[in-house]
Amino acid sequence: MTDFNVAKARRDFPILSLRVNGKPLIYFDNAATTQKPRSVIEGLNQHYKTANANVHRGAHQLSNKATSQFEQARSTVAAFINAPQTKEVIWCRGTTEAVNLVANSLGKLLLRAGDTILVSTSEHHANIVPWQMVAQICGARVIPIKLKTQDNSHPVIDQQHYLELLEKHRPKIVALGHISNALGVINPIVQMIAQAEAQGAVTLIDGAQSAAHLPIDVQALGCDFFCFSAHKCYGPTGIGALWGKAELLEKMPPWQGGGEMISKVSFEETSFNELPFKFEAGTPAIADVLGFAAAINYLNQLDRTQTLKYEQHLGEQLAIGCAKISGVKVHSPLQGNLGIVSFSVVDIHHQDIAVLLDQSGIAVRSGHHCAMPLMQALELPGTLRASVCFYNTQSEVDYFLESLQHCVELLKPNSSADLCEDGIETILEKELDRSVGQLTLPPSQEIISQLTQASSWQKRFSYLLQLASFLPEPSPLFLNDKHKLQECESGVWLQAYLIDDTVHYHAWSDARIMRGLLVMLISCKEQAQADSKGFLESVKLAQYLSSSRTNGVDAIMKALS
Ligand SMILES: Cc1ncc(COP(=O)(O)O)c(C=O)c1O
Repeated sequence: MTDFNVAKARRDFPILSLRVNGKPLIYFDNAATTQKPRSVIEGLNQHYKTANANVHRGAHQLSNKATSQFEQARSTVAAFINAPQTKEVIWCRGTTEAVNLVANSLGKLLLRAGDTILVSTSEHHANIVPWQMVAQICGARVIPIKLKTQDNSHPVIDQQHYLELLEKHRPKIVALGHISNALGVINPIVQMIAQAEAQGAVTLIDGAQSAAHLPIDVQALGCDFFCFSAHKCYGPTGIGALWGKAELLEKMPPWQGGGEMISKVSFEETSFNELPFKFEAGTPAIADVLGFAAAINYLNQLDRTQTLKYEQHLGEQLAIGCAKISGVKVHSPLQGNLGIVSFSVVDIHHQDIAVLLDQSGIAVRSGHHCAMPLMQALELPGTLRASVCFYNTQSEVDYFLESLQHCVELLKPNSSADLCEDGIETILEKELDRSVGQLTLPPSQEIISQLTQASSWQKRFSYLLQLASFLPEPSPLFLNDKHKLQECESGVWLQAYLIDDTVHYHAWSDARIMRGLLVMLISCKEQAQADSKGFLESVKLAQYLSSSRTNGVDAIMKALS
């Protein structure tokens, strides 16, 4: 362990004292976005209170003040990543926009029909889709570097395949994530950048997951572009930075047109501004840029060698602890893990676990983590991802592991465990009429009264889990794309058919909670049809369902009718 004073750090983050579902918040979704320290929150506030004005174009005191703070923020970001020149830092909405900027602008400059772009299979969509889009326009090709898994451990980029692709295709661009958001693997980018450069490729590093944890020195990395998002570094959402080598940025055409990025406009000829403004069309996110700098100043005053050691300690405890739970398969490194732990549980849908953990006040991510090609390569429908950072504690990790163990016991097939100390009834296996695939469901009034009379969300949730067992497991033949509702985040299959003038349903979902909702909606079809949102409110479920689940309910209702 390290001497890092976590209790002191936690006091800087007001949100960490929140309670969720009656329990202290345990925020383990830091890879999605981090929480914000008081200095960032107050910095934003302060700007609007004392310095709000547009930048660069004003001829008044306030505008000059805002401009000087805004440009000072650029120097702060440049120093944070050791950029040789401040003008090489371009404000973007985040990593996604930065990659789009480079793909569009550099793509226009460099890519011709038949050219190739290499990305790894584990990239976030933000580092795949912009390249695919530009490749389509230019007639170029995006080629994925394969992953390999050694000795049943976590998958890593196959370096042999990478070298083969470099030699065979001599790609124009190589775009790589520094740390995989879905696996937590730290890629050997220094070596990979040098190898790409030796073959004449331009390199872009997606630093969305690394900048908050590792010291970044773009000159030592040797890449041509590096980008990251403020919100994953304790700063505001909707702002990030792209760093690029001036010699390339100078040659690249502007991406978006408008104010600020021009030097002169006429109908005869328009010329463009110098760096960095050439790439910053329109009024920028001024307050957020200042919040970004405040976040970096916050990070700079921490002992980052200690935070890194501390984060690695927690990450390893988490990964090793998960791997010890029976049925849990960890897809992330157990050693050298900086805090991202991705895992799945045999026979249990990841979303069911995420919903249950939320009952214990624990926020984790579940799904494909914007890395669908990776999930496809690993043949996984999705994973659970717990991600920690320096303000998380050992006792949170311990509580998380206990809760996970409990969820696994509860959700494993044929479990008879209780949901929590609130005294949830044993989950009963109901008699199923499997004979002709007809469903025998509890009457709508019974379901409505159980849900409305339940004294807590836990009891309602438990009842939905009970309802799930009314759906007989379907034949694998039924689980095809024809019956699948595309709008649902988890897999939902539904088919209506007529027997003797009566509508019957075949229904299934890979998420148990969704099966419970299916049973409820089929049984209460009449009540839910007119106004599904109103119905969910009346049975006291609306506030607990995420927007993607509510969209799923709408899709089910549409299919039922
Ligand atoms: C590795 C990686 N790249 C890119 C992104 C996209 O970042 P943003 O949504 O801030 O643009 C993310 C966000 O999760 C990420 O983890």
